[in-house]
Amino acid sequence: MIKIVTIIGARPQIIKAAALSRAIKNSFSDKIQEVIVHTGQHYDHNMSEVFFEELGIPKPNYNLNIGSLSHGKQTAKMIEGIEEILITENPQAIVLYGDTNSTLAGTIAASKIHVPIVHIEAGLRSFNKKMPEEINRIMCDHTSTLLFSPTQTGIKNLQKEGFDLGNKAPISNDNPGVFHCGDIMFDNSLYFSDIAEQKSDILSKFNLSNSNYILSTLHRNNNTDDPERLTAIFSSLIKISEKHHLKVILPLHPRTKKILAKNLSKDVYDKTINSEFIQIIEPVSFLEMIQLEKNASLVMTDSGGVQKEAYFFNKPVLVLRSESEWIEIIEVGAGIICDANENKILDSFQKLYQNKELKFDSIFGDGKAAEFICQKMLENFS
Ligand code: UD1
Ligand code: UDP
Repeated sequence: MIKIVTIIGARPQIIKAAALSRAIKNSFSDKIQEVIVHTGQHYDHNMSEVFFEELGIPKPNYNLNIGSLSHGKQTAKMIEGIEEILITENPQAIVLYGDTNSTLAGTIAASKIHVPIVHIEAGLRSFNKKMPEEINRIMCDHTSTLLFSPTQTGIKNLQKEGFDLGNKAPISNDNPGVFHCGDIMFDNSLYFSDIAEQKSDILSKFNLSNSNYILSTLHRNNNTDDPERLTAIFSSLIKISEKHHLKVILPLHPRTKKILAKNLSKDVYDKTINSEFIQIIEPVSFLEMIQLEKNASLVMTDSGGVQKEAYFFNKPVLVLRSESEWIEIIEVGAGIICDANENKILDSFQKLYQNKELKFDSIFGDGKAAEFICQKMLENFS
């Protein structure tokens, strides 16, 4: 039996962790013991608790309740808490997801006291070091012992940064193992797709029917905190929805909700609030989100996860950022990087809306990334 400590904190990490916990429960319960630590980075019911209930994730063994603070303070408090738990639990490895401050805190705490790091979603790069996430993921990759990349692009990025892909035993953080395993979020989307259809009534709740709406999410700090960018994005949403008589469903991240009135120009704020088409709603559960993604005509987002889920469900996506880590989606033509540029957003919408030529080839694995990761952890840490 090996013991792993899993760190979660932000919404997408909680969702990703569901896939690993499910694989352990179904296929490795006699071989892997998982101790779950929630840093408390996200804490509203609809940003955290709702996912545990709905996705069957075991209740965290520890909750550090750190909450929202500046990057430095938040990360420092998390490091302190995680270090203490690692010393108490003495696991064979720590499992870290993605690129949030919770990931960075786990990286620093574990690497200093020589607990091997397993990084899930390794190798992704935006090549934009102004993004806090780019720093977090680089730090995590370069201290990890097992790196699991969801895409071939991720593997190539790691190779360019000097990682040896030979995977010669014994692996260590000086000789890490690098594996292409597919996307753990794809595991979840496949698994929960039918369940969402049975359990979620979100479409009838908001009077939505197949393809009569756009789904949009927005939370990146460089969009929310920049009045010009935020205004350009909302102005585009208003123009598209009015021109095409399409609803826009916008489950709004609390970060964006708090700053909307302050950072949108008065004109665009008033139009948004009074729009008959734009519907701002509270963040939804994962099953509700899947239903919204599966039935939308198109997705507009600055989220990493939502970009991919749009692709999983064969929906075109406008990426409201200047780059994407999921470059395959752009390369096959199912997504366009629009930044926060109104003309580019309007023009790209014309290209992708109701475009029947788009292809959604299989890029993100076979839905069994979590089982693969468990197997490799056993091989290397037993
Ligand atoms: C974080 C991650 C980002 C990820 C996103 C997923 C970092 C640096 N960023 O960004 O990579 O894409 O999570 O959603 O780790 N807030 C609430 N309630 C909550 C959580 C947050 O009101 O439950 C508000 C607070 O005002 C907080 C703000 O949202 O200050 C930002 O939260 P934070 O966790 O710092 O960053 P995110 O933007 O959520
Ligand atoms: N998500 C959700 N409810 C919402 C918005 C997003 O369940 O209201 C899910 C979404 O389906 C995806 C994940 O949260 O699985 C993406 O998280 P987010 O956009 O917050 O972060 P990112 O992926 O950009 O790091």
